[in-house]
Amino acid sequence: MRHALIALTLTLAGPALAEDPAPGEELYLSRCGACHGVAARGDGPMAALLTIPVPDLTQLAVRNGGMFPRADVVRAIDGRLSLVGHGGPMPVFGRLLGGGSAVIDGPDGSVIQTKGDVVAIARHIEELQAE
Ligand code: HEC
Repeated sequence: MRHALIALTLTLAGPALAEDPAPGEELYLSRCGACHGVAARGDGPMAALLTIPVPDLTQLAVRNGGMFPRADVVRAIDGRLSLVGHGGPMPVFGRLLGGGSAVIDGPDGSVIQTKGDVVAIARHIEELQAE
């Protein structure tokens, strides 16, 4: 049932956009808002239907000692961090998102390769962080 709901959300959100990175907010609202909420507080309309709590994404920096955990967020979105809420070990969003290839610096100075849309969404979430 949960998988059917997730599939439905993803279908309603529409196909991946063209190669140019779309604005992070627009991508966030269409791909993530149903569960995480418009303001990323974990209160989207789908949250009540899930059996695991949807995290408040505005608290990620606070929870990480004041530093936004950009690399973890990128990995959570593209599917490398296996999250039950994102469809298990399958990299659900990594395949749906586009924007061409992009890299960010990992916390240890290593380079993390991902997609432009993933970076745009991570930036949008960073802007929503609570102080
Ligand atoms: C079907 C509902 C759903 C959708 C859609 C969804 N998420 Fe999630 N997300 C969850 C749930 C539930 C969790 C809790 C973690 C788990 O599954 O173990 C989570 C966890 C996360 C985490 C880890 C937070 C933490 O506490 O470390 C991040 C970051 C995240 N989501 C970002 C996103 C982004 C960005 C999108 C859109 C690209 C998205 N999510 C779409 C349900 C969803």
